[in-house]
Amino acid sequence: MEFLKLDISKAISFLPTGSLKSFEKKVEKQHPILLSGNGKGNDFLGWVRLPSGSTPELVQQIREDADRMANSSQLLIVIGIGGSYLGARAIIEALNHPFNQLLPNRKKPIILYAGENLGEDYHVGLMDILDNYDYSIAVISKSGTTTEPAVAFRILKAHIEKKYGRRQAARRIIAITDASRGALKVLANEEGYSTYVIPDDVGGRYSVLTPVGLIPIAAAGFDIEKLMHGAREMEEFCIENSSAKNNPAILYSAIRNALYNQGKVVELLVNYQPNLYYFTEWWKQLYGESEGKENKGIFPAGAGFTTDLHSLGQFIQDGSRMLFETTLSVENPKNELRVPSDDKDLDGLNFLAGKRISEINRMAELGTLLAHIDGGVPNINISISSVNEENLGQLIYFFEFACSLSGYTLGVNPFDQPGVEAYKKNMFALLNKPGFEKEGEALRKKLE
Ligand code: PA5
Repeated sequence: MEFLKLDISKAISFLPTGSLKSFEKKVEKQHPILLSGNGKGNDFLGWVRLPSGSTPELVQQIREDADRMANSSQLLIVIGIGGSYLGARAIIEALNHPFNQLLPNRKKPIILYAGENLGEDYHVGLMDILDNYDYSIAVISKSGTTTEPAVAFRILKAHIEKKYGRRQAARRIIAITDASRGALKVLANEEGYSTYVIPDDVGGRYSVLTPVGLIPIAAAGFDIEKLMHGAREMEEFCIENSSAKNNPAILYSAIRNALYNQGKVVELLVNYQPNLYYFTEWWKQLYGESEGKENKGIFPAGAGFTTDLHSLGQFIQDGSRMLFETTLSVENPKNELRVPSDDKDLDGLNFLAGKRISEINRMAELGTLLAHIDGGVPNINISISSVNEENLGQLIYFFEFACSLSGYTLGVNPFDQPGVEAYKKNMFALLNKPGFEKEGEALRKKLE
């Protein structure tokens, strides 16, 4: 299998002499700490050996359940938020036909999402659709108590039960949650839903390679064995190789921390393929929740080029110099399309006639790289040969491994997210959740 390639040659010139070496050493020190379980958050290290630890039986069972849902449903509604949502969507959108929803001979269900927003119109619109199609639900919540997915599930549970009757509805619902705790687990036991367990020691944003991601990905028709295979190869590689010289995850962590140390506080993950939009969203969550704490961390942002060259491009080229870019390049598209020649050439584009769109895209990428470097934006490049299950599995593991080392290098616990609680507490108080009455009163005063 071909490995992803990491190129930092367009970033090192932005660093003072010796800085990268010094950060490489710092990150290398974290490698044995991570693997021996002696670092912060060491009760959440289940993801480290998840690809090699997943049994063929589990993968087989997931495939069977996903097929069962796929066969009885035109739609699968995946309910979840954060780490219980983004990984599945990242992989499904990356692999799907870009207009999957309009394909006439589609064999697999369309995946729709809920529980990741509280838009009233969104939910009403979703139910308009559900009235007219056969559907199943995969409800995903590790804690089983997160408000957004719980509200969405309550609404859709009522809808599906009305549509199919309670017993039939229960056969159309899969719950993916904690082994024993949380309201969703209680509900699933009570109603007799099929359930899958999210291991205790795997946190939300590191859970895409558990049933959290694998059920929706398999139901959408993609090969979860290949995804796991790619991740497994990267797992072995990342665990075995403990130096920046031979482990790109260490080198990536080192260079981004070195750039951060130079005041580059925003990392922009850039891609030139619209199907990677949600991959960037997944990456943003992984890095944002893992590193952004104790008043530290690189702010993870994303951009889709060339689209965003016509919106963010100006700022990237000329605005505040607090950015570095990490470009995720794809060498080969799946399909081939060339610019046609035109006799009259009124648009003056015949100089492109016969060229592949990917060639034009590649020149846009190289032109942008050079312009941004000239503008003072360091560039890291990560490239994969093509977008497929194996390469995505590799990338997932690579980014997870690099993220944990990077968090340790920064001195934070990359596996917790205490800051997420602040808005939740206020929301509960403002909604008069029992037990939050006093806080509610105080908050309402502040809003006056
Ligand atoms: O990464 C995380 O831990 C979070 O983003 C969670 O995945 C998110 O808050 C959803 O939590 P839960 O799966 O408990 O509903």
